[in-house]
Amino acid sequence: MTTRVAVLVGSLRAASLNRKLAESLASQAPEGAELFLVEGLDALPFYNEDIDTDDVDSSVLALREAVAGADRVLAVTPEYNGTMPAVLNNALDWLSRPFGAGAIKGKPFGVIGLAPSPYGGQWAHGDTARSAGIAGAVVVEDVTVSQNYLETDVFTDETVQAKLRGAVAKLVSYEVAAA
Ligand code: FNR
Repeated sequence: MTTRVAVLVGSLRAASLNRKLAESLASQAPEGAELFLVEGLDALPFYNEDIDTDDVDSSVLALREAVAGADRVLAVTPEYNGTMPAVLNNALDWLSRPFGAGAIKGKPFGVIGLAPSPYGGQWAHGDTARSAGIAGAVVVEDVTVSQNYLETDVFTDETVQAKLRGAVAKLVSYEVAAA
């Protein structure tokens, strides 16, 4: 059976390096796994309990269905002002509701990303992991890579590539505890 990994990209930029990384990792997914990018995060309305009704926007339904149908969730995100970009935060908010039964609940979760800061965006990645955990995801230990992209060509450096592929492999092979 294929392990399906829903990938949430935290940048909307056409030339996003994080999107490029997500696509690159998807093209070299471990055997038995499929990584797919969840599109349309820019179409989501800002989370608002008043519109989180039975008649919720179709963009929200699409997001929730995509993640509910996945076995794992991977965020690939830059850092904005020391935390995760709003577009990713908003998607996590939508995925966290209904309270206790959001689409992300129980999903093994990892977070990686590229940033120009010396710390590689680790504040964003720490915040993303904490937020996803509070939203009900199962944050998998060590599936976090915060990679600076100014010092290294991350798309050709074999050490960096191995680290990134290793994180994906660990997320994919994570054993989900029996309910
Ligand atoms: C940034 N950037 C940035 N980088 C970083 O390492 N730490 C930070 O706190 C911030 N803050 C920040 C805020 C805003 C509003 C922008 C637009 C950018 C730089 C950012 O990480 C860099 O441009 C990345 O390349 C963006 O990722 P993508 O679009 O290439 O995937």
